[in-house]
Amino acid sequence: MEIIILPDADAVASTTADIIEEQVRSGRSVLGLATGSTPLGTYRELIERHSRDGLSFADAQAFLLDEYVGLPASHPESYHSVIRREFTDSVDFTVGTVHGLDGEAENPAAEAGRYDASIAAAGGVDVQILGIGTDGHIGFNEPMSSLSSRTRIKTLTEQTRRDNARFFASQNEVPEHVLTQGLGTIREARHLLLLGLGEAKAAAVAAAIEGPIAAACPASVLQLHPHVTILLDAPAASKLAHTEYYQYTLGRKPAWQRF
Ligand code: PGA
Repeated sequence: MEIIILPDADAVASTTADIIEEQVRSGRSVLGLATGSTPLGTYRELIERHSRDGLSFADAQAFLLDEYVGLPASHPESYHSVIRREFTDSVDFTVGTVHGLDGEAENPAAEAGRYDASIAAAGGVDVQILGIGTDGHIGFNEPMSSLSSRTRIKTLTEQTRRDNARFFASQNEVPEHVLTQGLGTIREARHLLLLGLGEAKAAAVAAAIEGPIAAACPASVLQLHPHVTILLDAPAASKLAHTEYYQYTLGRKPAWQRF
C-alpha cells in the first residue's frame, strides 16, 4: 500500500485529482465515485481542471459505490442526486454514463446483481475513490461484512446513521437500509484510493492500515489489494504508529514520490 500523509485537506484533494486526471487522460476510463464529505474537495478540483485546463470526462464512465434504499432518485440526499450536484453535472460526462443503484428497486437483490454485471460489462473499475466511516466501513460495508461480499442490501449501524444525520433534517430521516457494492466488488477495481480527512477518522484509519485484516474493520481488507493509495491529512494520520514507513509532505521528508 502507498500511504501518503499530506498537510491538509486541500493537498489530499489536489493529489487525488492528479491521480484521477492521469487516469482520465490515459484514455477511456471507468471511475468509481464515492459520495459523503471526504471527496468533495477532489470533485471541486476536478471541476476546476475541467473548466481551466479542458480536462474532459467525455470518454469516461462512472459507477457509484452505494445508494440509500427507499429514497427516490429525485430526493436531494439520494446519492444519484448528490453526485450530480457535487460533481458530474459540472463536467462533461456523456448522458447515461454515470451509473448508480436504484434505491427504489422492487427487488433489491436483482438490482444488486444487475449492478455487478454492469460494472463487469464496462470492463471493471480503473480507479475507485473511497472514504472511510468512523466504524471502518468502506462503501456501506459495515463491520462484520463478508470480506468477499458482492453488491447487496445492508442495514446501517446506528453510528453511521448518526454520522450521516447532518445531511437530513434529523437522524430519524436517515434511511435504515442501503444498497452497497460489496467488499469483493470493490476489491476488483484496479486501483483503490482511500481518502481520510480529520481526527474523527484517525482510529478507523489506524485500524485499517495497521490492524489485523478483519471484518471488524472492513477497510482493513485493502491490505490484500495489489494497488492501494491511501491519502491522509495530518489529523487523520495522527493515530498511526509506524509512520517511519510512510511518505510525508509534512516537512520531514522532501517530497511525495510515487513508487
Ligand atoms: P464522509 O463519509 O466522507 O462523509 O466522512 C465517509 C464514509 O462514511 O464512508
